[in-house]
Amino acid sequence: MKIVSIIGARPQFIKVAPIARILRDEKNVINGVKMSHKIIHTGQHYDYFMNKVFFDQLDIPVPDVNLEVGSGPHAVQTGNILQKVEGCLIEDEPNLVIVYGDTNSTLAGALAAAKLHIPVAHVESGLRSYNRRMPEEINRILTDHCSDILCVPTVNAFRILKKEGFDNFLFDGNLAPDPDEKWGPLPEHFPVGINVGDMMYDAVRLSMEVAEQKSRIMQKLKLEPQGYFLATLHRAENTDDHKRLREIVHAFREISLLKPVIFPAHPRTQKMLKTLDLDLSGSNIHLMEPVGYFDMLILLRNAWKLLTDSGGMQKEAYFLNVPCITLRDETEWVETLQDGKNVLVGSDSARIISETKKPSLRHENIDTDNPFGDGRSASRFLKLIAEMEGLLCAHQGR
Ligand code: UD1
Ligand code: UDP
Repeated sequence: MKIVSIIGARPQFIKVAPIARILRDEKNVINGVKMSHKIIHTGQHYDYFMNKVFFDQLDIPVPDVNLEVGSGPHAVQTGNILQKVEGCLIEDEPNLVIVYGDTNSTLAGALAAAKLHIPVAHVESGLRSYNRRMPEEINRILTDHCSDILCVPTVNAFRILKKEGFDNFLFDGNLAPDPDEKWGPLPEHFPVGINVGDMMYDAVRLSMEVAEQKSRIMQKLKLEPQGYFLATLHRAENTDDHKRLREIVHAFREISLLKPVIFPAHPRTQKMLKTLDLDLSGSNIHLMEPVGYFDMLILLRNAWKLLTDSGGMQKEAYFLNVPCITLRDETEWVETLQDGKNVLVGSDSARIISETKKPSLRHENIDTDNPFGDGRSASRFLKLIAEMEGLLCAHQGR
């Protein structure tokens, strides 16, 4: 069975890692089915700390192809990926294409495959912010609606898809049984949905121990546990809206009077800060290049609080029991809002500042009753596609 993963942006490298790891450990044989796994990198992200560092740290195989599309406006970037991916897929003739998350690489990969009648699996399906001004929201909706296997990370994502008319869900949208158990007969038509849990939770569980051994970031930045705020920012709605960006930076300046703000900034944000002449020098904000995954896990685990507009980091804060302040007006990761573990504050300075002043409440261990599964999402996913091998191959000839 020939599988192709299409990835291109930072969070997608993290999401593919658990799948690549299991395939390597199992010598590409899952439930008796031989699988080959090819990685197509679209080249959407390309700087070392946005790209290669994740391959090195997470032991992800070097991509078989890099399409080197680089940056550009949405239509240009999406169109270039679409065009280039199509050529690769025609040549490779895979039995399944896997796409991850909600970036332009996700949509272009899914669309190219669907038009070639190659079955598509969407990892992180069913997410909605209900804000159609987010490019990611458009990518999510369209990708879900042209995919054949909809892998939702939570029960909430299952409910969202059900409302949109998907009715062929395994195990009634509940987390699929343990991958070592027998699953019983599977449905015979597509699209099919399954709740496998969240791949990013797998990734955190796989990486935390080695991050602790390898990361020196606390020593390098001379940080004490819980002695700083951690901040990340990259959403177009914040960086490209000058008023919002100024408000957020003003809030960072104010809260840095309480504790330093460690701010590994996405290149898009760095560029916008320069364009707007928003100079952070002289404040207690430590603006720096993006960091690798291991350093990020350690910075996050030891932070007093996280301020972010990142989807992935809202979840990681939840996994690591770190209070999260989300610099957005809505979130697709509504599970993280439970018990105030994550609070939506938008970009209003006063709201951001007031939230940072509240106590930093650490919550119970989430291992029991975790809405994101049990850290075995990749195993469930691979088991499903192994069991559906025959159906996938037949489906291709539709
Ligand atoms: C993209 C995704 C977003 C995801 C984010 C993860 C889309 C529409 N957006 O946003 O959903 O949360 O990735 O990080 O797909 N740049 C560099 N070096 C790089 C990459 C980018 O300098 O290696 C700069 C370029 O100026 C580029 C800008 O960042 O124009 C934005 O990059 P792009 O990939 O278009 O969008 P992201 O903001 O990264
Ligand atoms: N991340 C990282 N270094 C950074 C910023 C983020 O390793 O400097 C990781 C973070 O831990 C998470 C992922 O990148 O796993 C999130 O990516 P991003 O915020 O770019 O995208 P989103 O999740 O919002 O799509």
